[in-house]
Amino acid sequence: VGGPVTITPVGASYAPALLDLQLRNRSFLAPFDPARPEAFYTLQGQRESALIAEADREAGRGYAFVIVEAGSGELAGRIGLSNVVRGAWQNATLGYFVDRARNGRGYASGAVGLALAFAFGSADLHRVQAAVMPGNPASARVLEKNGFRKEGFSPRYLHIAGAWEDHDVFAITKEEWLHS
Ligand SMILES: CC(C)(COP(=O)(O)OP(=O)(O)OC[C@H]1O[C@@H](n2cnc3c(N)ncnc32)[C@H](O)[C@@H]1OP(=O)(O)O)[C@@H](O)C(=O)NCCC(=O)NCCS
Repeated sequence: VGGPVTITPVGASYAPALLDLQLRNRSFLAPFDPARPEAFYTLQGQRESALIAEADREAGRGYAFVIVEAGSGELAGRIGLSNVVRGAWQNATLGYFVDRARNGRGYASGAVGLALAFAFGSADLHRVQAAVMPGNPASARVLEKNGFRKEGFSPRYLHIAGAWEDHDVFAITKEEWLHS
């Protein structure tokens, strides 16, 4: 699984490379991301974001990874399982992006496969959900290739780039993943 990429937990040591990735992809990602404070685009902002990711991992709230290009060892994106709920749900939400300059090489598809293996393996979750804006067919394709089902359409689902945006909701459970 993963092909040309590996994933590894986000840590503060990745802050400079994550800053570079965020700065180079700022306008590319703007339509898909929540509005970010200006501080997000500073080394300090990326350090803080990485420290939050480390604390979330420690507390079992979420699992953020950098996507590493296998050939070069360079950072190619970020993928994360967030909003982990245990109890009767055992669910998390999945989000990701891949460096625009490296799009179309199967990196997101590989990273999602690796994130699912982690979710249903060491994290022992039962369901992973992802929400995609209808105008983002590449992301929907990445999910479908990894065995996600489209469950439905959720109007005004997430606050993205300053507005409540409709999303298609996709999900996969461990049973489906095991049999795919
Ligand atoms: C969406 C995104 C993650 C895709 O990353 P990627 O590494 O290029 O994805 P992959 O190469 O693994 O796969 C992309 C698939 O979408 C397909 N695709 C690309 N553009 C498409 C389009 N306009 N319509 C339909 N399919 C499209 C590709 O052909 C490929 O499918 P294939 O393997 O069957 O040929 C990347 O463009 C990105 O980071 N976008 C901005 C952030 C974002 O949208 N994140 C997800 C939010 S839900």
